[in-house]
Amino acid sequence: MPRCRQVLPSPECECRMLESLFSAKPEFEIVTMTPDDCRAVSELHGQRFAQPWNDGAFVSLLLQPNSFGFVIRQTNARIFKPPLAGFVLAREAAGEAEILTIAVHEKFARFGLGWRLMQAAIRETRSRGGESIFLEVDDGNHAALGLYRKLGFEKAGERPAYYTDDKGQKSSALVMKRDLR
Ligand SMILES: CC(C)(COP(=O)(O)OP(=O)(O)OC[C@H]1O[C@@H](n2cnc3c(N)ncnc32)[C@H](O)[C@@H]1OP(=O)(O)O)[C@@H](O)C(=O)NCCC(=O)NCCS
Repeated sequence: MPRCRQVLPSPECECRMLESLFSAKPEFEIVTMTPDDCRAVSELHGQRFAQPWNDGAFVSLLLQPNSFGFVIRQTNARIFKPPLAGFVLAREAAGEAEILTIAVHEKFARFGLGWRLMQAAIRETRSRGGESIFLEVDDGNHAALGLYRKLGFEKAGERPAYYTDDKGQKSSALVMKRDLR
């Protein structure tokens, strides 16, 4: 009687399989932020900002009637559960929206996720009847300034010496605006 023989992949074949598992181009989805996301959002905020906001702060901001947010997640990770890739939190009132905070995980920097999150916030602002959108940014934050300028935001004001870093160094806050009309 023939024996059932297990055919093992060659080492070369195993290497190719592992390579394809790890090198798949990441794909992402953007969904509306819910209170259940706030723990992961707060963790990522703590990684990207010197003064972290706890999950309770995110839940209470999100539950305010004029607030809205989006999170972005990788959808095709095969082995490990990926970290939250990014989020944006905003609010809109009387035709004006404000970006309260936005961050993208360092691992996914320059994948276009900040751009997608901002586009989602802009679309949502428009759908609520908003005509302009404001934000505040440290004038030394080149990544954020690059993103906002690319999106068409322009300087609308400045608060000198508004931020202090952990070495006591002061920097200005730029107020930026984009007209949505
Ligand atoms: C700012 C931030 C959200 C950008 O996210 P991101 O997903 O890496 O940005 P994107 O890949 O969407 O970049 C879009 C554009 O922004 C600009 N940009 C992004 N990172 C940049 C950098 N490090 N330097 C210069 N420009 C940059 C570029 O114009 C870029 O377009 P390009 O890649 O075609 O040149 C991210 O760096 C971050 O989370 N920073 C820490 C938190 C923070 O500072 N939040 C903003 C507070 S106001």
